[in-house]
Amino acid sequence: MKLREIDWETFHALDAEAKGAYLMRESRPEHVLYAQQFGRAELEYIGDLATTIRRISKSRDGRLYLGRLLEDRRAMLYFSQPSSRTFLSFTAACEILGLAIGEVRDTATSSEIKGESREDSVRTFSSYFDLIVMRTKQKGLAERMAWVLSNSERPVPIINAGSGADQHPTQALLDVYTLQRSFEETGGIDGKHIVFCGDLARGRTVRSLVLLLRHYRDLHISFIAPDEFQIGEDILSALRESGANVSLGDRLRDVLPSADAVYMTRIQDEWDTAAGESKSISLEDYAITEEELAFLKPSCVILHPLPRRAEIAPEVDRDSRAVYWRQVRNGMWVRTALIAMLFGVDGEIQSYSGKVPHGPAPSA
Ligand code: NCD
Repeated sequence: MKLREIDWETFHALDAEAKGAYLMRESRPEHVLYAQQFGRAELEYIGDLATTIRRISKSRDGRLYLGRLLEDRRAMLYFSQPSSRTFLSFTAACEILGLAIGEVRDTATSSEIKGESREDSVRTFSSYFDLIVMRTKQKGLAERMAWVLSNSERPVPIINAGSGADQHPTQALLDVYTLQRSFEETGGIDGKHIVFCGDLARGRTVRSLVLLLRHYRDLHISFIAPDEFQIGEDILSALRESGANVSLGDRLRDVLPSADAVYMTRIQDEWDTAAGESKSISLEDYAITEEELAFLKPSCVILHPLPRRAEIAPEVDRDSRAVYWRQVRNGMWVRTALIAMLFGVDGEIQSYSGKVPHGPAPSA
């Protein structure tokens, strides 16, 4: 199924699961828009490729090899919503593979100020670039642009680097990679108890990650949040359908002793209305300090998409169970792997590392 073969209204009306089929070609992404477009086989493959790239880049020769792979390509980073870590992570990923980078961060400096539509702006950029990475407050813009470009003479791939409060698929992929690596010695992600805590209603990273976790077996997932910021019903029902054991609550300490991973998030008060919904939340109830560490298993890992506020005390950083800094670095490797797949150089990378080149096996 191709994006070229479906009209916009029909495509737009599909659910994200069904859209996924139009975004993948033989298990390789043509655009990266939704967590739902990835199955378990792709998750394993992306993780494996990220590890291969990480290993290759340990040597100078390896870094030089990677840096030549896409030196004739250019990427455009269109970030109309604040970002430093995701922006830099993509910058670094592009640089590892040798892509040249252009950027628009402040749309006030672009022709949008003259009344140009975002769609026209992005279409213009596509004339100069071979990849567009975009972060916007607007939920559906990345999807619309993917369709528009696929139906133009320059079908440039789009990566969604955060779309409103909806999705953040590359963050979810790096989170899965971090979990895969954390549980390498303990049987992988299957069967684990994963706790999500904080603003689960408006945190797009949690929404995307939970959708990916549906591909793992026998999970227990706990959502700990104040009632008004509890995880959305859409995500809950998708998760329940996958057979996971789900629990909801507002007492973090109750679930910490059995947790294998705790994913902390900040309160996303930039989405508050004038009523200031977050003001009444007592943040101490949704935080990990040295005191909470005593409740955790020795093997439990603590994740956070960052930026953090008070939900993880800085003292926790010294604990070996805190993996959020490693998570940041993992993000760079996962994004490098994704870009390599978008340009079809992943097989080459594997041959270089001595592996038999293979594509991702299609998901069942
Ligand atoms: C997150 C985001 O932008 O959604 N940050 C990130 O990309 N690592 C989380 C957040 O802003 O809280």
